[in-house]
Amino acid sequence: MMRRILRFDSIDSTQRAAAGEPLGTVVVAGHQTAGQGRHGHSWHSEAGTGLYCSIVLEPMPLLTLAIGLAAVDAIARVTGQVCDLRWPNDLMLGGKKTGGILAQMVDSAAIAGIGINVNQTSFPPHLVDEATSLRLHTGQEACATDILDALIPAVEAMVKKDKDTILRLFTHASSYAAGRRVIVDQPGGVIQGTTAGLDPDGFLIVRKDDGTDTLILAGGVRAAGS
Ligand code: BTN
Repeated sequence: MMRRILRFDSIDSTQRAAAGEPLGTVVVAGHQTAGQGRHGHSWHSEAGTGLYCSIVLEPMPLLTLAIGLAAVDAIARVTGQVCDLRWPNDLMLGGKKTGGILAQMVDSAAIAGIGINVNQTSFPPHLVDEATSLRLHTGQEACATDILDALIPAVEAMVKKDKDTILRLFTHASSYAAGRRVIVDQPGGVIQGTTAGLDPDGFLIVRKDDGTDTLILAGGVRAAGS
């Protein structure tokens, strides 16, 4: 059970601090000076406005999808807002990103990092078009600690679910899973097509206009026309 919580006012990255901690540890910080995003990006971690936490978990299939679902659940319980999930695990409100998940393996543990923009009222110029916060979206403040308190049991419940259940829940929760026109940045170039569901390992199937399917293994998916 995740009941060992390490809290920091400010830290470089909760992801870094969680590495090497025992299973079930939750690291949370009010501010990160070197927050990590996916693909080597940094994660904007303004002091006192967001939820920045990392949870040490047993590795499991579809972990990143499961954590995204848990985050959607926690945010909905606290704020009533139901985020969309942009595959694999961006939390979206009104077409903008309000949270992200970073899952990393360290030794034999999985470290699930969750960043949620809660009370930000502005973002730096390079993020302005892409990012939002719960506060900006709803016009109301929300409490990051309340979201964490909802997130921990939501994660505990979600990691117990089997693969088929997680795939089904994700497909239901994400408008990106099927029937969505997308553009995907791939190592070999950009592809365009319509999403056609998840494969059994949770990878995204994109059907190109020539009818062939491509399996998307990593992120870089955006809605066509955005
Ligand atoms: C993404 O790129 O969408 C993933 C962002 C993950 C950010 C969170 S904030 C808490 C944890 N600590 C980090 O340094 N990163 C993750």
